[in-house]
Amino acid sequence: MCRLEVNIESSPKNYPIFINNHNLEFLREEIFKYMDSQNYIVVISQKVFQLYSKILNFPKEKIFILKDGEREKNIKNYAKILEFALKNHLTRNDAIIAVGGGVVGDLAGFAASTYMRGIKYIQVPTTLLACTDSSVGGKTAIDTSYGKNLVGTFYQPHAVFINVNFLKTLDIRQFKSGLGEVVKYGFIEKSCGCNEELNLMNFLNANVENILNKDILVLSELIQMCIKLKISVVNQDEREKGLRKILNYGHTYGHALEKILNFKRYTHGECVVQGILFVLEFAFKLGKIDKEYKFLCEDLISKFNFPKIPKFPPKKILEIMKSDKKAGNDYITFILPIEFAKVEAFKFNDNEISF
Ligand code: GLY
Repeated sequence: MCRLEVNIESSPKNYPIFINNHNLEFLREEIFKYMDSQNYIVVISQKVFQLYSKILNFPKEKIFILKDGEREKNIKNYAKILEFALKNHLTRNDAIIAVGGGVVGDLAGFAASTYMRGIKYIQVPTTLLACTDSSVGGKTAIDTSYGKNLVGTFYQPHAVFINVNFLKTLDIRQFKSGLGEVVKYGFIEKSCGCNEELNLMNFLNANVENILNKDILVLSELIQMCIKLKISVVNQDEREKGLRKILNYGHTYGHALEKILNFKRYTHGECVVQGILFVLEFAFKLGKIDKEYKFLCEDLISKFNFPKIPKFPPKKILEIMKSDKKAGNDYITFILPIEFAKVEAFKFNDNEISF
């Protein structure tokens, strides 16, 4: 059992993150012990509900089941959750428990941040991506027809309960999607300002088989490392004014790919990996990294066997990157590698970007 803590510098926002592999039948009590609320609702992914409803044993009338998939992170489901909370008479002292992947966490978190001007929410991530990244840091959102995450809040959870056992039943595509964010943390480690030297890239290189075989102890250690890096960044820059932008390593290009593919066919993490390969090439061409480091990163990525995504016309990708909300008006920001496990933000005009 490991307990980590978020302590955001600019505001008194502290909360714990529990990482363990306890029997899942204890999870409900572990959450309740920490919750101190009278009342609650549980927003849970359909798949997780099908697999774990018996063992988690939340009362039926408190459960809101959300179908799986990014398409469900929409305004209709947001409104339905608010209505469900009202129907259950949730007050300002109560809580929403989010059990699922990033979609459930983002949507339930957004509902919690606006319900009665903000009530507690508890994250129970069940995918590798949510365990290593999205459940911590307080980004909540819904998608609109104009793009992903364009409506949302920065609103920190009350606590995060990570139980590695959920990952045993995660399908390989979703597992690999999480691995995309995990390798990202390896490549940005030294820029996160974490006072512990984790050597995540070495850990990944040494544990490829164990990770792909979902060795529970190795996964626990891996999640702890990623969360330590995430905490370090969020503590310094909750609102993405500066440092937090490095978490978007590989995302500028990755998001554009996701959009071209209409968020189907390839997962978020797979597109992020493609985005990382793009910035490695781009940074090399600009002379920011040498051939050896580029090879080291590409070699690590190749060990996890991510799918190859076909190339799209550069003009189309550029257009989409420019319309991304994280882009400035006249330029596109890329997080580029600059040396071993270090990255930096750079701004470019379209004509400076080479494919
Ligand atoms: N997933 C990126 C962030 O939390 O900032």
